[in-house]
Amino acid sequence: MKLCMIGTGYVGLVSGVCFSDLGNEVVCVDKDINKIKSLKMGKVPIYEPGLSELVIKNVKSNRLTFSTDLKKSILRSDIIFICVGTPTKRNGSSADLTQVYNVAKELSSSINRFKIIITKSTVPVTTGDEIEKILKKKNNKNKFSVVSNPEFLREGEAIRDFTYPDRIVIGSNDQKSNRILKNLYGPLISKGAQYVHTSRRAAELIKYASNAFLATKITFINEIANLCEKTGINVEDISIGMGLDKRIGSRFLRAGPAYGGSCFPKDTKAIISTADKFNTNLSVIKSVVKSNENRSKLLLNRVYDILKKRVKNKKITFLGVTFKANTDDMRDSSSLTMIPALSKKGAIIKYFDPTGEKKEFKKIKNVSYANSIKKSIEGSDLVIIHTEWNDFKSINFKNLIKSKKFTIFDMRNIYAETKIKAQGLKYFSVGR
Ligand SMILES: NC(=O)c1ccc[n+]([C@@H]2O[C@H](COP(=O)([O-])OP(=O)(O)OC[C@H]3O[C@@H](n4cnc5c(N)ncnc54)[C@H](O)[C@@H]3O)[C@@H](O)[C@H]2O)c1
Repeated sequence: MKLCMIGTGYVGLVSGVCFSDLGNEVVCVDKDINKIKSLKMGKVPIYEPGLSELVIKNVKSNRLTFSTDLKKSILRSDIIFICVGTPTKRNGSSADLTQVYNVAKELSSSINRFKIIITKSTVPVTTGDEIEKILKKKNNKNKFSVVSNPEFLREGEAIRDFTYPDRIVIGSNDQKSNRILKNLYGPLISKGAQYVHTSRRAAELIKYASNAFLATKITFINEIANLCEKTGINVEDISIGMGLDKRIGSRFLRAGPAYGGSCFPKDTKAIISTADKFNTNLSVIKSVVKSNENRSKLLLNRVYDILKKRVKNKKITFLGVTFKANTDDMRDSSSLTMIPALSKKGAIIKYFDPTGEKKEFKKIKNVSYANSIKKSIEGSDLVIIHTEWNDFKSINFKNLIKSKKFTIFDMRNIYAETKIKAQGLKYFSVGR
């Protein structure tokens, strides 16, 4: 089939590449000229394990192309995926749908034959209805079907998640598009993915409800971790004991920093805002958002306590600054709250991240990037393990830095306390 992905970011690029690998002809479009230029040269602009190899393979086989020409790309395609951003509105909490509606307007004048228009972007309930209205304005009646097909991939595991999804959700109000899409996803369904066909509005809500639920699980265990710290209990025992109950499940039950990333923070706020519009109070999700916002403050207070309230001129290292491992995505990472707050209190901060230096910290006073774990820790008073990259999982701190003793605050509970203490270092973690 001829597919067009509009928006070549984490979702558009990964799903476009994977669809081409399944034998479809795919054009990935973006308005960012530099992104497309670099992709045409075989350079992938994001860090996602395995993606580069797959891009090169499918470009070679002529199934995958990149373009900035939206109109031409739409005209040649049968199925159009909208994969643009839906960030939180500036000065608000609802989803900013400007990018989605701009694309819909461009689409409305380029429908030359029957096309399926799919929102893969995470969009609030009724967005599909609005897109349909925009498309109808240009006399396109019966020439299109608007479908919701939310994406559930996780950055860092995106190719695996796309290729072996738990489920494929298709929200369409007509059978023709349902049939075509079941066929498109056929190779994944035959490998075991569940195919779920719902109304378009239900599919839109499934995505938000899923993200809000996962965010709730993380926030829940983070609050239980707080209680464990006060009662001398290891939160990991709680996670294991709870997670083995099949009704609960063990995933997303690991205590750590506030949840971040490009989805949970914005999607929890957006679902609350949608519900408010429909006079429905999502009180559970509201407390999750509040609790998560407090989480960074709470962990910062623990840092101040570890440093005995003397933060000025203390040398602090951050190992990892992305919101999770195996991605370069900095959106809503808790390091964006913690590092500026510590810098404001006079700390001198060095950080190392396997995906390199971050523009977000360039203008922050006394914050610098070190290009190795060793260089980032040298001279440090306190090392904060912020992201659970494999690179940080078996460091022999004592051998690495012989000149000075320092304290470790392991926000991901990577290490066993006894192991670090045996190296003569002070060690703190979360919920144990
Ligand atoms: N990142 C994830 O892990 C993830 C997972 C599931 C769902 N989602 C959802 O998918 C959507 C996209 O997320 P993302 O992380 O890929 O965003 P992103 O910011 O990485 O990519 C969006 C791309 O769209 C491009 N774009 C915007 N307007 C355009 C236009 N008119 N024409 C062509 N290109 C245009 C931008 O230049 C950008 O490259 C969001 O709604 C997000 O919530 C993201």
